[in-house]
Amino acid sequence: MKPRWTKIACGLMSVYLLAGPMGRGQQAPASAKPFDLIDWNGGKFIYGADYYPEAWTESQWEKDAIMMQEAGINFVRMGEFAWAKMEPEEGHFDFAWLDRALKVLNAHGIRAVLGTPTASPPAWLYAKYPDIAVMDAKGVRYRYGSRRNYCLHNPDFRAATVRIVTAMAEHYKDHPGVIGWQIDNELSDPRCYDPITQAAFQAWCQRKYRALDTLNVDWGTIFWGHTYSDWRQIPLPWNTLYDTSNPSLVLDFDRFHSDSTREYLDLQAAILRKIAPRQAITHNEMGLYSEIDYYNLNRSLDFVAWDNYPILQKEYTQYSGQGLAHDVMRGSKDNQNFMIMEQEGGVGGWAEFIGHQAPPALYRVWAYQSVAHGADGVCYFRWRTSRYGTEQYWQGILDQDSYRNSRYGIVAQTGKELQQLTPLLHGSKVVSPVALLNSPDSRWALQNQPGVEGFQYDQQLQDFYDAFRRAGVNVDVAFPPSDLSAYHVVVAPALYVTDQGLVDKLTAYVKNGGTLILTFRSGVKDEHNVVTDRTLPGPFADLAGVAIHEFDPQINEEQEVVGPGDTHFPTRYWSDILTPTTAKVLATYGKGYYAGKPAVTVNQAAKGRVYYVGTESKSPVFYDRLISLATQKSLVAINSRIPTGVEVAAREKEGRKIIFVLNYTGTPQTVPLEQAYLNVLTGNAEPMDVQIPAYEVKVLTER
Ligand code: GLA
Ligand code: GLA
Repeated sequence: MKPRWTKIACGLMSVYLLAGPMGRGQQAPASAKPFDLIDWNGGKFIYGADYYPEAWTESQWEKDAIMMQEAGINFVRMGEFAWAKMEPEEGHFDFAWLDRALKVLNAHGIRAVLGTPTASPPAWLYAKYPDIAVMDAKGVRYRYGSRRNYCLHNPDFRAATVRIVTAMAEHYKDHPGVIGWQIDNELSDPRCYDPITQAAFQAWCQRKYRALDTLNVDWGTIFWGHTYSDWRQIPLPWNTLYDTSNPSLVLDFDRFHSDSTREYLDLQAAILRKIAPRQAITHNEMGLYSEIDYYNLNRSLDFVAWDNYPILQKEYTQYSGQGLAHDVMRGSKDNQNFMIMEQEGGVGGWAEFIGHQAPPALYRVWAYQSVAHGADGVCYFRWRTSRYGTEQYWQGILDQDSYRNSRYGIVAQTGKELQQLTPLLHGSKVVSPVALLNSPDSRWALQNQPGVEGFQYDQQLQDFYDAFRRAGVNVDVAFPPSDLSAYHVVVAPALYVTDQGLVDKLTAYVKNGGTLILTFRSGVKDEHNVVTDRTLPGPFADLAGVAIHEFDPQINEEQEVVGPGDTHFPTRYWSDILTPTTAKVLATYGKGYYAGKPAVTVNQAAKGRVYYVGTESKSPVFYDRLISLATQKSLVAINSRIPTGVEVAAREKEGRKIIFVLNYTGTPQTVPLEQAYLNVLTGNAEPMDVQIPAYEVKVLTER
């Protein structure tokens, strides 16, 4: 986590991790009919803005609606921070202002998703029920004045939630201009450590383990004599980095928090489903945010929406961080198309701006990146920058003066194009030959015990992801319950925590002909975060055809890998020194006492193959080589000539490809493709060597 962003603390940045008894071992549901966002929006591609009518005079609303309509906007999200205005006193509701705002917007062809406002409860609620506020791990109760300041298990908060959500649902259930609901806003931290939460955690443990003896054995509480003789003795973790709490307890607390978040979302979803069954339900999520197992969370939603802020990237040409986040979000709901509920509409910041201003044309490229990765809706955060409060610096499309600035021009251009593209896009989706396995359990466990300073689970995903994306290969993100059978290659980096179900699934995948890439720190722990007593990589040793009898934490990054043709790559974080049992050696270590010992191997296992990569390199070429080896015998098409800072991504419809070429750089680029395509926006044929101007997008399709 970047400290600067921590200060801003809105959870857009990821940090801690996920999973839960509900999620583990569960299989992906038999493919229910996917939710069609474009049908839901009356046949229109969803194009919108997050709008806060409560903060502007009513005389402004009509002017806004006119400008929105001119920009092709047909959708708004509203209401998610307006609890105090909707319920000014306990049990007294006022929706008249929101009805009037909807009337103005609807008259201009703009429909709404309403946010349930629970992320920011009113001051009167805290005055009456002060224990709603978060208690931190040191036992200090937060004071009122920010948002996301509630304890999920507090009964008064839950009662207040039920009341406001019920009132909103009753009022809007038949409103033709309200097509759905966003539950809360970016469900996330802070976690609450109050006595009610502790009791809820103890009850969660009791439901999971049934007998205290089972918990004591599974958690290994014999260590330091932490054996419990009563459920009420189970503590909450201390929540410090390098927590000295039992890692088994910490992992279960991570799962408990994720489950509690889902349970809170489900509390709201059940009310909305019952009262307003014709309206759709979503939540605005946060990509790589790590404290929630989104796969588990999303079971009760119709579709995924998420908040996409590319400005958080260090360099705007580094598109693949956002790309991975899009693909995680798509994967968290079985690869259904999704929408962006908050698409970057300007540079942002709270006390300080967190990025530099992007060239206006880049906002269009970023919107198209969302579409390329499977979005059927793009809603910008926000229509206009706030005059008030914490987000005075967080730019909307318009600034406070409502001037038709260059971002507005770009948004309007993009809006027109997306309407033009809708017939082609409608019904198309991302199809990928490769999947990256995203294990919430492993992320949580490694976050608690990274093993080596600087090691990050997400980086392990990103290393491989980037290599595939540099080569123009679409990537899906699978979660443990996802079906893997259709993929040519599955990459499961640092699969630190596993259970027998996942081991069996990966084994079957390989035996049926799949190619699996495993890396260091795989198979180390069982599902209770307890270290295996088998030789590493534990349950994967036979499949990978290697044994690990020694390893070396790379604290000083002094090691290197030597590959075919005497290629040398610097390594970091870890060296597994491999002893092949049945595997073939592909690369060795270059230095120190284990120079010449195997670092990377491949093993033929029944019809499939397993690569074991014993280390990490900061050299992208290392990963380019690995993926080109791993895809050699498959149909995965590698394009090694895509220029840096240019992304090539594809959707597919009835076997026909729709290719997006996205230039994030400030210079024109040439992108060699495998065939000549038609440019959908201009109607012109493009040469095989596509010329793409700076900060431009081309949408291509087969003729
Ligand atoms: C000290 C303690 C041991 C053990 C080691 C390693 O020596 O006495 O119990 O914790 O440190 O941490
Ligand atoms: C998140 C929140 C928004 C807003 C933006 C910008 O995405 O959901 O309410 O705060 O961040 O900070």
